[in-house]
Amino acid sequence: MHKRKKGLVIAIDGPSGAGKSTIARLLARRLGYTYIDTGAMYRAIGWNAKQEGVDPSDEPALQRLCSRTDVTIRHDPGLQRVLVNGREVTGEIRTPEMGMLASAVSRSPAVRARLLTLQRGLGASGGVVMDGRDIGTVVFPGADVKFYLDASAEERGRRRWQELKEKGMDVDQAVITEEIRTRDLQDSSRALAPLKRAPDACYVDSSAMTIEEVVAAMLSVCAEKDPR
Ligand code: DC
Repeated sequence: MHKRKKGLVIAIDGPSGAGKSTIARLLARRLGYTYIDTGAMYRAIGWNAKQEGVDPSDEPALQRLCSRTDVTIRHDPGLQRVLVNGREVTGEIRTPEMGMLASAVSRSPAVRARLLTLQRGLGASGGVVMDGRDIGTVVFPGADVKFYLDASAEERGRRRWQELKEKGMDVDQAVITEEIRTRDLQDSSRALAPLKRAPDACYVDSSAMTIEEVVAAMLSVCAEKDPR
C-alpha cells in the first residue's frame, strides 16, 4: 500500500539572491511544511573541499571526497542545520566564499548524483518546500507546485549585501553584485542540471514586491493545488 503523503512537494528555483530561502522558509511555516535548502548541501561539500584541499575542478578527487563526506540535514523549528561528518557547519557555510565554492563543486556529476539521492529522500513523503536551482527540473520534475523566483541582478546584489552586512560582515555591494552575476552565469551555463525555468513553473519577479506579497501570491497558487 502507498504511504499517504504528508502534503505537497513545492519546488522553488531561481538565481542567487532572489529571496528563495526567506520566501521558502515563510511559505513552509505558513503551510506547516518542512523547508529544505539544497544550496546548503552544495555549500557543505564546497566547505569540505576547502577543508581537505580538494580542487573543485578535479572530478576524480571530488568523487573520492564525496565517498568520505557525510552530509546530514537536521531540522530544528525554523532552522535547517547542516553537519559534515558530524561537525556542524550551518553558520560557516553562509559566506560569499562558500557560495562561490558551492557553485564550483555543483558542476561535478559525482557531487550532483550524491546530493540528488539525499534531496529525493528528504522530499519523498511530501509536506516540503525545497529551494535550489534544479528542483522543478531534475530533483522533483513531478512536484505538485513549481515556482521560479527571480529579481534583477542589481536588486539581488543589494539584498545579499544587506543580509551580509546585518550579520556583521564587511562587504562591498558592487563586489557582491558582480559575484552574483558570475554565479548566475556559472549556474545557468553548466552542462548538468543547469539553472533554468521549468516550463510548468509559475514565474514570480520579486524585484518590486515585498516579502509578504510574494508569500501571499505563492500561497494562493498552492491553495489551488491543495484546497484542504
Ligand atoms: O542557494 P545557494 O546560494 O546557497 O547555492 C549555492 C550554490 O549551490 C549555487 O550557486 C549553485 C549550487 N546549487 C545547485 O547547483 N543546485 C541546487 N539545487 C542548489 C544550489
